[in-house]
Amino acid sequence: MRTREEYQFKVSAAGRVNLIGEHVDYCGGKVLPCALSLKCTVYARPNGTDFINLAWTDLPDKIPLDIKNLNQYRTYKHAKYQAGCAYFWREAGHELKGCDLLIDCKVPFGSGLSSSAAIEVATLGALALVAGELPVPVELALLAQKAEHEFAGVNCGIMDQYASACGRSGHAMLLDCKTLECEQIPIDTGEYSLIIINTNKPHALVESKYNERREETETALSILKRKLDIECLADVRPFKLLEYRTGLPATIYRRAKHVVDECERVRQAVEAMKRGDMKKFGELLTESHKSLEQLYEVTGKELDSLAHAAWDHPACAGARMTGAGFGGCTVNLVKPAAVEDFKRKVCDRYKQETGYDATCYDVKIGDGLTYREI
Ligand code: GLA
Repeated sequence: MRTREEYQFKVSAAGRVNLIGEHVDYCGGKVLPCALSLKCTVYARPNGTDFINLAWTDLPDKIPLDIKNLNQYRTYKHAKYQAGCAYFWREAGHELKGCDLLIDCKVPFGSGLSSSAAIEVATLGALALVAGELPVPVELALLAQKAEHEFAGVNCGIMDQYASACGRSGHAMLLDCKTLECEQIPIDTGEYSLIIINTNKPHALVESKYNERREETETALSILKRKLDIECLADVRPFKLLEYRTGLPATIYRRAKHVVDECERVRQAVEAMKRGDMKKFGELLTESHKSLEQLYEVTGKELDSLAHAAWDHPACAGARMTGAGFGGCTVNLVKPAAVEDFKRKVCDRYKQETGYDATCYDVKIGDGLTYREI
């Protein structure tokens, strides 16, 4: 394998943590993610062939992708992400050039911190540079989302790819997923630290459960559209949903109620953050988790165990699952002086309740897409 210095470009894209606004991006809602300093880095150089040669720093596999037939890689466990990116890069009218890519992903895989978005955005950035173009972050995010839909089989929203590409160090992004308008909000958690805790539960059935939830929200929307002048579920205010409750099957109502209430919580959370009221912000995080647990049903035993243990700790202002759910991570707002005690107590209780060892990370907010010539 080549040393990293033998490549021409170094491109990084970020993992993300979503502070609040969960399972609303595909309903046209607003979300509040931050890009993390955990990155996927892709080293790239043109190779003058019709192949994209893939290698990984932490996997033994070496996979040459034939750029004349990218569809054949849709079922590949790791290479499907790069194949999907290459496919949609060319489909968008760009030149796709043969190249060697070395992938070094430091975002823990399956952690719910968007390793796949980071891999896709960094890959697309590399393909752009190899083709002699400067990457345009929003375009890369949209192409990465297509790769995720078509090659990874997850009918995701735009939040992860957007945060991975467009994040800014020291800022949370208030992203309107209907219009893609984004307000970068300087993040100041005042007298609290943000801690991420990974359940380390191997992901199972995330894709199918995720796609099922998305379909349920689409069912809710199509029923409500018969009565209301709305484009997406995020357009519905909580009192309106209550008015039309009887027209919706019980499960569909609970899914819609989560979406509508969560959009309201995002509005309140941003106001609380702007006025420095982190206690209120924390309460909203906790409310969000309860709704994801009871109404949207995407948490599961492990995430609930971590969140409930966090709520019981006196130094915690609030905690919730982040990302798609069904495993992955929680995000916690904790007084700095008590962080070590918090981590120990929460992780010990989690181990007792589930048998898994959790991993804690202190949140460091980084930039989204970055690149340079080596
Ligand atoms: C996953 C998806 C996102 C979003 C979250 C839930 O991370 O990729 O688009 O829907 O789940 O908020």
